Amino acid sequence: NGKYILLLADTSSKAHSEYLKIQDIVSKNSNGITRLVNKQNALKSNYKPNDLVKISVKSTKTIHLRKNVAKAVKNMFSDAKKKGIHLTAVSGFRSSSYQSNLYYNSLRKNGAAYTNKYFAKPNHSEHQTGMAIDISAKSVGYDLVEHFKNTKEGKWLAKNAHKYGFILRYKEGREKDTGFAFEPWHFRYVGEDVASYIYKNNLILEDLYR
Ligand code: DAL
Ligand code: ZN
Repeated sequence: NGKYILLLADTSSKAHSEYLKIQDIVSKNSNGITRLVNKQNALKSNYKPNDLVKISVKSTKTIHLRKNVAKAVKNMFSDAKKKGIHLTAVSGFRSSSYQSNLYYNSLRKNGAAYTNKYFAKPNHSEHQTGMAIDISAKSVGYDLVEHFKNTKEGKWLAKNAHKYGFILRYKEGREKDTGFAFEPWHFRYVGEDVASYIYKNNLILEDLYR
């Protein structure tokens, strides 16, 4: 009936205008907060953000992130703590040479198949943007393991990180499209609007660049 059609049209035009708004943000920030870094899109080897700061949340070592990202991490960890969720940061900014060490050490130790599922090659890691953070918790020994998804910390992050501007970057079921294994610990800052859009529409960052 007419009412139903009207409702449908309205819903889809709202969805479309939201899509256009997100596309606008992405196109204006493709060198900034929404930058796509993956197996096909590299950074220059000397790329290093000029606003890195030391993060002030619980971590397993000294970690640096871009200023706004560090602020978002702080808010997220402190809101989590209020809900009894105790998060620990494990990794943040990595230079190209640091990523190179990680990649080639793993290659020697674990072989190519495993390494290419879990480690980006130097210049291809989001960690070099200073906008990616690996998060773990005491319950999994501060390790970066798939089982983190079943912990209360992993579940809280998957459900709430978008409110702080973060997306779960390497989604379960989208391994072919991201090029990496499911990583319930790796979160990428893209800003609240884009993160919420990606979360609500069950997308990955690559989907916004098609
Ligand atoms: N673990 C992610 C893919 C990285 O190495 O950047
Ligand atoms: Zn990571």
